Amino acid sequence: PTPLRLGIAGLGTVGVGVVKIIRQKANVLAARTGRPVVITAVSARSKDKDRGVSLAGYAWEDDPVALAKRDDVDVFVELMGGEDGPAKDAIEAALELGKDVVTANKALLAHHGHALAQTAESKGSVIRFEAAVAGGIPVIKALTEGLAGNDITRVMGVMNGTCNYILTRMQDAGLPYDEVFAEADALGYLEADPNLDVGGIDAGHKLSLLSSIAFGTKVDFGGVELEGIQRISIEDINQAAELGFKIKLLGVTQMTGRGLEQRMSPCLVPADSPLGQLQGGTNMVVIEGDAVEQVVLRGPGAGEGPTASAVMGDVCDIARGFRLPTFGVPADMLTTAKSAQSNSP
Ligand code: NAP
Ligand code: HSE
Repeated sequence: PTPLRLGIAGLGTVGVGVVKIIRQKANVLAARTGRPVVITAVSARSKDKDRGVSLAGYAWEDDPVALAKRDDVDVFVELMGGEDGPAKDAIEAALELGKDVVTANKALLAHHGHALAQTAESKGSVIRFEAAVAGGIPVIKALTEGLAGNDITRVMGVMNGTCNYILTRMQDAGLPYDEVFAEADALGYLEADPNLDVGGIDAGHKLSLLSSIAFGTKVDFGGVELEGIQRISIEDINQAAELGFKIKLLGVTQMTGRGLEQRMSPCLVPADSPLGQLQGGTNMVVIEGDAVEQVVLRGPGAGEGPTASAVMGDVCDIARGFRLPTFGVPADMLTTAKSAQSNSP
């Protein structure tokens, strides 16, 4: 069988996790997909950095765009991050050449997802992004495949592990926000720009992607009503606890009579509910559909293994020949939903 040849741009937390899985599980991956899955070339900023994993046998490219264009790369795996810049340039280059793309980059897709989906379809390529939403939880696969027979009525959940860690720790240890924020920073949990996490932006990116898939609408990150956790005090947490609630950064997306409502904000949830009991960096997504009623997915929202697991699920789907449109239906069928922000006139 013809090998599926990957070019991986980005050898940080997620990229190294993907290299490890492919190095350790070559035989089982070939058995599961029916063909060898191999890495032919990689790219990162620093060629000499010790990444704790062997890169022997892989060609090196300094430039991710050059990597995407290589003749020996069938699938471009983008694990660099960034809303614009090299990640976007390299993905576009790969798509223009009719190559498939796997990415974990929620920021890029929240802003450019629809245009990239159109390019992909015009070239016969696919873009897969399971790792971009809720880390190791296969929520996109659940929505697009397992729940394809449903009209989805609502999707909600906790989609940023860092915020959940901060809120849980404030509650459990009785510590103020600033102290726990510093702790999260020291543990390396925060994004390079921490406001992406604590400002609710990262979780908002993820919610906007789920909305598109759930309701067949164009990604509308601007339509997400956003509020972060920076102003949550220990007093807020204690008062909520006295009333039997916990505070969670909760995302909700649903189609209402007023249009698409997308909210990511701190909410009170019953302390003894599954959402209330969610600890640390764990994510939870609750999907409601007319036929299935309710499905609850829970798992690690970040980290090397969980995120690489999601990337590999996409890679294996491509190796098997699954050609699902980016947001579940062809990009031209996605509608522009009226946004039902509560603060709109
Ligand atoms: P990371 O640890 O910061 O790694 C980023 C990698 O990209 C590094 O290897 C870096 O090279 C490389 N890179 C950056 N700019 C580059 C450029 N211009 N040219 C070539 N290489 C470049 O990031 P990460 O945590 O693995 O995240 C990667 C992506 O996955 C992001 O989109 C992120 O949002 C997403 N994601 C991450 C997680 C997670 O748990 N970490 C979870 C879900 C989604 P050097 O190593 O040489 O500096
Ligand atoms: N900063 C993100 C989080 C990483 O804490 O959930 C995973 O997307």
